Amino acid sequence: MDYPGHWQRRHLLGLEGVSATEIITLLDAAVEFRRILDEPGRKRPLLAGKTCANLFFENSTRTRLSFGLAARRLGADVVDFSAAGSSVSKGETLIDTARNIEAMGIDAVIVRHSCPGSPKLLSENLRCCVLNAGDGPHEHPTQALLDILTIRQRLGDVKGLTVALIGDIAHSRTARSNIQGLQTLGANVIVCGPSTLVSAEWEKFGVEVSYSLDAILDRADVFNLLRIQFERQVVRPFPSIREYAYLYGMNAERLARCKKDVLILAPGPINRGLELTPDVADGSHSAILDQVSNGVAVRMAALWLCLGCASRVAPDPARHDVEARHDDESA
Ligand code: CP
Repeated sequence: MDYPGHWQRRHLLGLEGVSATEIITLLDAAVEFRRILDEPGRKRPLLAGKTCANLFFENSTRTRLSFGLAARRLGADVVDFSAAGSSVSKGETLIDTARNIEAMGIDAVIVRHSCPGSPKLLSENLRCCVLNAGDGPHEHPTQALLDILTIRQRLGDVKGLTVALIGDIAHSRTARSNIQGLQTLGANVIVCGPSTLVSAEWEKFGVEVSYSLDAILDRADVFNLLRIQFERQVVRPFPSIREYAYLYGMNAERLARCKKDVLILAPGPINRGLELTPDVADGSHSAILDQVSNGVAVRMAALWLCLGCASRVAPDPARHDVEARHDDESA
């Protein structure tokens, strides 16, 4: 595969400010990697000799495993760090933790952290590439990219499509990254859920706000059913789980009122019976497991592009500051 010369990012911190050309470049590379993943060998050693570190300060199944698999499928080495059982419990800071791991010879750090902006902070304090695997409620760029890739595969060009993001918008980094990416590519976005989880402020950013799932069932081409993030909520934003499912859960009866070819997505993990019923999650309109498969391909593309850029493009001036600081401190 030829490296696309116009990809100039060493880091993938979010989809805010990422152009349509860049998103399409990454998605096209992901399509190629998906094809390779479906071949018997499943590998292309495009990152042989590189080492990636998974730094996860929050739990993960899909993102962590698929980043690790993506790096290995490209021939890179992978080291895994979990905050649990590490020296974080002794008071070591995020920057110190990351710089010590980088000092072992790391080319890319993949970070998930509960604090918004953590990946940006690391990009300003490390020499290596930084990829955001989810920073609190802020952004989860590779999740949105795999969602958009799945939409493109099932429905074609996203331009002009209507994509509804349902549920816990307030705490969802997936929602933020999806809104950024989908709007950049020309999709119409609706956010829908209880008013305690869906701010009317979204209208200022060109997003339609709805508080009734039933009112938008026949308008959306895609429903992305976001997980209710109980772990981030200080007070429960609705009276009971049964009431949430009654008002906002996707079920067979609601699905029957959607467009004929409607696509059902969910970033996972799903709460079966809450955001959607098992028959919808496992039914013919659902692309939930396709999303997971596409996640490996998208993360291969993200690693290949960022690490390829780091090998080809001179560090920017801000990087020189960081490197000078490293040199001063080590003198
Ligand atoms: N969708 C997602 O980020 O899943 P994990 O939390 O399991 O990585």
